[in-house]
Amino acid sequence: MTGAKLNVRALYKGTFIHTPVLGSLEVIEHGIVGVDHDGTIVILERNRSLEQVIEDFDLEEVETVDVDHGGNKFFFPGFIDTHIHAPQYPNNGIFGNSTLLDWLTTYTFPLEASLKDLTKAKLVYDKVIERTLGNGTTCASYYATIDTDATNLLADLSIEHGQRAFIGKVCMNQNSPDYYCETFEESKESTLKVIEHINKVDPHNKLVAPILTPRFAPSCTDELLHWLGNLKKEHGYHSQTHICENKDEIKWVHELYPDAEGYTDVYKDHNLLDEKTILAHAIHLTEHEKDMIRDTGAGVSHCPISNSSITSGECRVRWLLDNGIPVGLGTDVSGGFSPSILQTARQAVLVSRHLAMSTALEKDKLSVEDVLYLATQGGAKLVGLNDKIGSFELGKQWDVQLVDLDAKGSQVDVFEWQVPHIVEIETYKLKWSNVIAKWLFNGDDRNTTKVWVNGRLVKAL
Ligand code: GUN
Ligand code: FE
Repeated sequence: MTGAKLNVRALYKGTFIHTPVLGSLEVIEHGIVGVDHDGTIVILERNRSLEQVIEDFDLEEVETVDVDHGGNKFFFPGFIDTHIHAPQYPNNGIFGNSTLLDWLTTYTFPLEASLKDLTKAKLVYDKVIERTLGNGTTCASYYATIDTDATNLLADLSIEHGQRAFIGKVCMNQNSPDYYCETFEESKESTLKVIEHINKVDPHNKLVAPILTPRFAPSCTDELLHWLGNLKKEHGYHSQTHICENKDEIKWVHELYPDAEGYTDVYKDHNLLDEKTILAHAIHLTEHEKDMIRDTGAGVSHCPISNSSITSGECRVRWLLDNGIPVGLGTDVSGGFSPSILQTARQAVLVSRHLAMSTALEKDKLSVEDVLYLATQGGAKLVGLNDKIGSFELGKQWDVQLVDLDAKGSQVDVFEWQVPHIVEIETYKLKWSNVIAKWLFNGDDRNTTKVWVNGRLVKAL
């Protein structure tokens, strides 16, 4: 060996499965990954023994995790939830027959406003972080509420639980109920205070980072959007918002912003679109809007469970991808009823089937490999961390889940003849892709037996 000695803390040995490119799985059998004290992947080897690697790299006091004993266990990159409302978690499953605008006033605003009570906020935020981590979500882009202290608490709890997170204090200063609305001054002050807090508790944003969060165009004045856009431009902050989710919402935006050509123009005109922007939903985009989004480099968070539940429509994911727009997945808790990105990916497959039935375009169908890419690599691009998370690569962080299809309580029954055996080389890849499909459609958090973020173990069953 040449060069400086590697500061390796742990070696993981087993099967590694990921989706480095859209539409295909890569299976690395008998792999060994070495992770340093910062949680960075510094060794990637295959077909070696732990002893050989320890000797070759002259490693000392290294922890070893060896799951390379056959069976149906594999390491998979942690999931990235690119759109989730932490305070809405208690409402998961509660949406009746509502659609977006009445859903907001009936179910959502009262719950969000009630989290001004920090005891209640802590109860909800602890639970949503535990639940998402338990489902393999190692990184989440959260909307909190308009409240400064409760939003700061969400940042503190993300650090405490060890989840990578973008924390957005929600901005809304018009068209909102009196009990849940800010003035322009309050929104500015609160946004700056939250950014200051996050940068104090995590100065290098190793785990949590701020994200500017105008709720959506109808709830923000021109003045507030303008201020947020300038702040983004000046500091290069990430931002997130909703776009073209529902037809009544779009009509409303046209009424509120009559000078803008379309909904997307409102954000563009206020400097709120760039490659660090996450746009949730983007279902009913015009060609012009799609081109504008592509040209700015902004990404789309596809939230299929929410889009079915509150009957918003079917996002044309293949159309976005074919046009060069990055796409990730979002649970959109609680427009979506599940905190699980695995379940969201499953529903992305089904929604794409419904879309294909109406377009009669075979290519609109998303594959298992496609949606797992969106859940990991796609999401990483949306949050601007594609050089850090989303796949197994030297230099990336160990944000990983260990999946065991034979775990206690597993709902995935893999029969003996379905188990991949390396000796049957010609069927090996096919068997793994079938096993992964069984995980996608039948698995749940009982199969995610361990989760790490930045190399730290944050869940162990
Ligand atoms: N549009 C504005 N606010 C929201 C929200 O909380 N959830 C969803 N799905 N859409 C929104
Ligand atoms: Fe949302």
